[in-house]
Amino acid sequence: MAIVTTRQPEVRLIGQSPAIQALEAEIDSASRSDAKVLITGETGVGKEVVSRLIHHRSARAAAGLVTLNCAGLPDSLLESELFGHVRGSFTGAYRDKPGLLEMAPNGTVFLDEVGEMSNRMQVVLLRFLESGEIQRVGADRSHTRVNVRLITATNRDLQQQINTGAFREDLYFRLNVIRFAIPPLRERVEDVPLLVNYYIHSFSQSHKVPVTEVMADAMDALMDYRWPGNIRELKNVVERIVLKTCGRPIKASDLPPEVLKATSAAGTGSAAGAVSSGPAAESSEGLASGTGRADELANLMMKQGESFWAVVYPIFMSRDLTRTDLRRIVQVGLESTNGNYRLLVQLFNMAPQDYKRFLSFLRKHDCHLPFQRFRAVPARLQGPANLGKTS
Ligand SMILES: Nc1ncnc2c1ncn2[C@@H]1O[C@H](COP(=O)(O)OP(=O)(O)OP(=O)(O)O)[C@@H](O)[C@H]1O
Ligand SMILES: [Mg+2]
Repeated sequence: MAIVTTRQPEVRLIGQSPAIQALEAEIDSASRSDAKVLITGETGVGKEVVSRLIHHRSARAAAGLVTLNCAGLPDSLLESELFGHVRGSFTGAYRDKPGLLEMAPNGTVFLDEVGEMSNRMQVVLLRFLESGEIQRVGADRSHTRVNVRLITATNRDLQQQINTGAFREDLYFRLNVIRFAIPPLRERVEDVPLLVNYYIHSFSQSHKVPVTEVMADAMDALMDYRWPGNIRELKNVVERIVLKTCGRPIKASDLPPEVLKATSAAGTGSAAGAVSSGPAAESSEGLASGTGRADELANLMMKQGESFWAVVYPIFMSRDLTRTDLRRIVQVGLESTNGNYRLLVQLFNMAPQDYKRFLSFLRKHDCHLPFQRFRAVPARLQGPANLGKTS
């Protein structure tokens, strides 16, 4: 869920568009200061890449970079991840544990999806930003102070969230010192051929297939497409094509249907390729996707006691699991609980107080299935005592 990096990972921004050149200059400038950075942009545009580059070009590069995704984590877990906890503060807290903020002294902390933080966590974060003091969960006073640089990112419109009361304005002002607004790929189409060729080389190498070229009609189609999942989607599409073509030249007919559909619909006002609001454009995935994977994950929770937050949530958030897979997992669970979401929380090994959080997570990603559909099915499960014994 959280990643601590000290070594210099190979990250670079591919592209020569004016937007990318401006971004490079802004990264250089931001890396010379210690000011807080807020990065905005659609899913897959490179917010995390930018945060890494800022850290690795800064004087803090030798210290750690801690990355934590705030979305969907229950408050208790998020607070304990960030600030640590003291022994006995909750069931299972057998010993004192330092938080991530303490694990990157003089380094950088990257909080992704900060727009998803609950109001309570926003207050906790604000208090930390004001004092720099760390108070571990369950402690009655502050434990230490830390010097970290904070970089945050969101694909939400924070201004709009402030208007609806979902995000604190005082926190927004604290976070929004240096602002990066990364444009979507469709606004820098000239970068598409560079990215496509870069990823063809990269995936040909990793999959040990000969490097190939892209025919003009195929490249036109790739440049016409709207890329709702931005560079992450392009990367997935290229990987799929590299595997499919195995070194022969790439023709338009080798492209996935959604890319071709967008081209044939161009000029007709079709909504093909409308911007995705979720974590991944469904169609851009699929290599590791499928019912098998969903069932395997459902089994891990239902038969091996793994928690949804530990085995499903992180891979969904890192876009390694599609919405279809998540819906399938929920479906498998609901079939076992006769459509009861409270039992599902238990079945997927979450704490009962995670119920609301779990439901809002599913709703947000459009994976909340109507329970009525499962009520007609005779209950395979009578109650919690039977959890995990379904076939
Ligand atoms: N300019 C770029 N050049 C090369 N690769 C890029 C570029 N921008 C993004 N990528 C790649 O695209 C993928 C998505 O980037 P990243 O995770 O930084 O996006 P993000 O904006 O944080 O997305 P999300 O909002 O969904 O978290 C990564 O694999 C990253 O390496
Ligand atoms: Mg990200």
